[in-house]
Formats: sequence, C-alpha cells, structure tokens
Amino acid sequence: MNSETVTVSREGQERHIPLSLLELPQGFSDRELKTAVAAVLDTTPADFDRHVVERHGSRILLTELTDGGDRLVAGFVVWAVTFLLVGTIQGVVQVMPDVRRWIFSTGGAGHLIDPLAHAHVNLVGGVVMMAMATAYYLLPRVLRRPLHSVRLARLSLWGMAGGVSCWYLSMVTLGYLEGSLMLAEGLGFHDAMARFQPWHTLGFVVPASIMGIGHWLFIANVYLTVFRRQSGRAGQAG
Ligand code: HEM
Ligand code: HEM
Repeated sequence: MNSETVTVSREGQERHIPLSLLELPQGFSDRELKTAVAAVLDTTPADFDRHVVERHGSRILLTELTDGGDRLVAGFVVWAVTFLLVGTIQGVVQVMPDVRRWIFSTGGAGHLIDPLAHAHVNLVGGVVMMAMATAYYLLPRVLRRPLHSVRLARLSLWGMAGGVSCWYLSMVTLGYLEGSLMLAEGLGFHDAMARFQPWHTLGFVVPASIMGIGHWLFIANVYLTVFRRQSGRAGQAG
C-alpha cells in the first residue's frame, strides 16, 4: 500500500495527487513522473519542463522553478540594452567638439548631461539592470527553488526602468535648459538653477527615489530568496 503524494505547483496553485494513481514503475525517473502527472492533469509533459522534482519523505514535490520569473528576465534585458543604446548614442554625440565645448562652458549644468545622465543611463540602466537580469535568471536554478516573489521582481523592474528613464530625461532637460539660460543671460550655474526651482530639486529627488526603490526591491527579493526558510511549497506567482 503506497500513501505517498505528489504535490504539483502550477500556475500559482497546488494539486495533490496520490502516487498510486500515477501507476509508475519502481525507481521511476523524473521524466516518467512528469509524463504521468501530465496525463492525470490532462496536459503535456512539456508543461513541466521548468519544474524540479524533490523528494521529502512521503511527499514528492513537483515545483515550478521559475514561476514566471523568466519572462521578467527578458524585460530586464530589453530595458538594459535600450538604456545602453541611448547611453552610447549620447556618448558618440558628446564627443563632438561643439557639444564638448557647450558642456564645458556650462559648468554645473553641463555636468547634469555629462556625466550625470550619461553615466547613470549606461551604468545603472545598462550594466546594473543586466546584472539584475542575470541574478533573477540564475538564483532559482542555483538554489533550485523559485524566486521569493515574482511580483516584487516585477516592481523592481518598473522601479529601475521608470527611475532610470525619469533620471535621464530630468538630467538632460534640466542640463539643457539651465545651460542655455546661463549662456543666454551670462548667469552662473547657481543663479540659473535657482530660476528652475522647485523643478531642479524635484528633478533629482523624484527619479532618485524611484531608482532607489527599484534597487532596494531587487535587493530585498534576493535576500528573501536566498535566506528565507524553505517551506516546501512554491513561491508566490503573480
Ligand atoms: C559609444 C560609447 C561611448 C562613448 C562614445 C562615450 C563617451 C564618453 C565621453 C566623451 C565622456 C566624457 C569624458 C570626459 O568628460 O572627460 C564619457 C564619460 C563617461 N562614460 Fe561614456 N561613452 C560611451 C559608453 C559608455 C558606457 C557603455 C559606459 C558604462 C557602462 C560609460 C560610462 C561613462 C562614465 C561613468 C563617464 C563619466 C566618467 C567621468 O566623469 O570621469 N560610457 N563617455
Ligand atoms: C538610486 C540610485 C542612484 C542615485 C540617486 C545616484 C545619484 C548620483 C549623484 C547625485 C551623483 C553625484 C553627481 C555629482 O555631483 O557629480 C552620482 C555620481 C555617480 N554615480 Fe550615481 N546614483 C545612483 C546609483 C548609481 C549606481 C548603481 C552606479 C553605478 C553602477 C552609479 C554611478 C555613478 C557614477 C560613476 C558617478 C560619478 C559620475 C561622475 O561625476 O563622473 N550611481 N550618482
């Protein structure tokens, strides 16, 4: 008499199937288990390609490894290469002698465009977001359990993409407007900046906060994925 159950997590739900119902041979393989489960659930074995099989006493867990997290990886990669595209186009534009001259002659205002806009779109948008994509892809596979929360990962994606976009647009716009005002009216940077208050301050604080939240949600998700106690069930999809 076999009282073992197979717990299948799929699409955010758990199903419990008595092992005896699956009519598996002695010493069945993971592939045979997935094929039998697929037959009982009226689906195909390919639906379990991203599942891992874990044995815990009388329970066998068929756990979805990535729980939708892989789709987010593509989102991070697309945003990262888009930011790199913008950053490298700016890089090429700002090597031009006229542009360099404008940036140097506008001091603090030019500094907003190069390096502040350029460095962050390339490093935070391109490099850090690509690193985040890598971490989100690798962690479930290295730890053999899903991310703590796909919802948190999605929020971190929008925090990063939204924050870097706002930061970039804000730095380039403030830099251009304040720099142009300096040249047109012979003002110093601090006087030009004062003319654009409270927009200048808001243009720093709002995008910086969104970028910060994007980073911290990612960091929290990584810590929770790595250090949370294993409960034997799949992470929340959503
Ligand atoms: C086509 C590609 C690129 C071009 C032509 C380019 C060009 C430039 C130029 C002309 C500067 C100003 C240097 C100065 O003020 O002396 C600069 C600064 C900078 N670039 Fe790029 N860049 C490119 C791509 C990148 C990428 C991919 C990254 C990062 C991943 C990056 C990171 C930076 C940083 C951090 C600074 C500021 C450095 C500082 O202030 O000392 N750049 N870049
Ligand atoms: C919430 C996130 C972040 C915020 C709000 C932020 C903001 C700033 C600010 C205000 C500066 C000083 C600018 C100045 O006065 O010259 C700065 C400099 C810089 N940041 Fe960030 N930063 C963030 C994250 C990052 C990350 C993750 C990286 C790299 C991966 C980075 C790379 C740089 C570099 C290279 C500079 C120096 C630019 C230069 O003057 O050459 N930042 N950042």
